[in-house]
Amino acid sequence: MLKIQGLETYYGESRVINGLDLSVNKKDIVCLIGRNGVGKSTTLKSIMGLVKTPKGSIMLDGQEIIRMKTYDRVKLGIGYVPQGRDIFPQMTVQENLELGLQPLGGKGKIPEYIGDLFPVLAKFSKRKGGDLSGGQQQQLAIARALVAEPKILILDEPTEGIQPSIIEDIGNAIKKINQWKGLTILIVEQYLDFVLKISDYIYMMEKGNIVLEGKTSELSAEEVQKKMTE
Ligand SMILES: Nc1ncnc2c1ncn2[C@@H]1O[C@H](COP(=O)(O)OP(=O)(O)OP(=O)(O)O)[C@@H](O)[C@H]1O
Ligand SMILES: [Mg+2]
Repeated sequence: MLKIQGLETYYGESRVINGLDLSVNKKDIVCLIGRNGVGKSTTLKSIMGLVKTPKGSIMLDGQEIIRMKTYDRVKLGIGYVPQGRDIFPQMTVQENLELGLQPLGGKGKIPEYIGDLFPVLAKFSKRKGGDLSGGQQQQLAIARALVAEPKILILDEPTEGIQPSIIEDIGNAIKKINQWKGLTILIVEQYLDFVLKISDYIYMMEKGNIVLEGKTSELSAEEVQKKMTE
């Protein structure tokens, strides 16, 4: 589904990603983990075309996208929720969701399963985005990325700053959408318990490159934990 090879990403003159390789198979939930500042968000921004990527390849379903504009990548079916969930606080939940339809060119409507996935959004559909809790805003941001029915959903730290009960709701929703729709999902995350619970495959980054990878079922949680904190 998604295949990154030899990726290099720069901020100005400084190289932050150094020849990274990462693949996401169709219908898998893949987590990219690593400490603060190792380049996790930059990897996702590279996939979205938001940063300078002079070298490497990013293939989506066999098509090279590394030189494409961000909006064209979205139209090809990449749904992206950036770190810090930038919903529109003055717009209602419903209006925020409708914005997610834009990549479909004004056509399409909000799928019914969105309400099943996130009951709280159905309940508060007329409430302003800014009046939701942090966890509800994260759910809204994920739902907004889903309404255009992407091929792959990319989430940047969906549990950051969110209370445990809502983290569980978000984890369950991610699992459900993966099962119901066979949606392929790539998640950047630092909360290891969450990662071990939901992922099929894990990549760990240090300073701009992958240092450990494997099927979640075959990796030792202790080893991953140790490497994250050493
Ligand atoms: N806009 C920018 N301009 C210059 N340097 C940046 C910019 N954004 C990030 N960096 C640097 O690039 C490196 C990787 O940052 P990135 O945000 O990708 O890390 P991260 O793994 O997502 O961290 P976190 O867990 O804190 O979100 C860091 O050293 C950071 O300081
Ligand atoms: Mg980040």
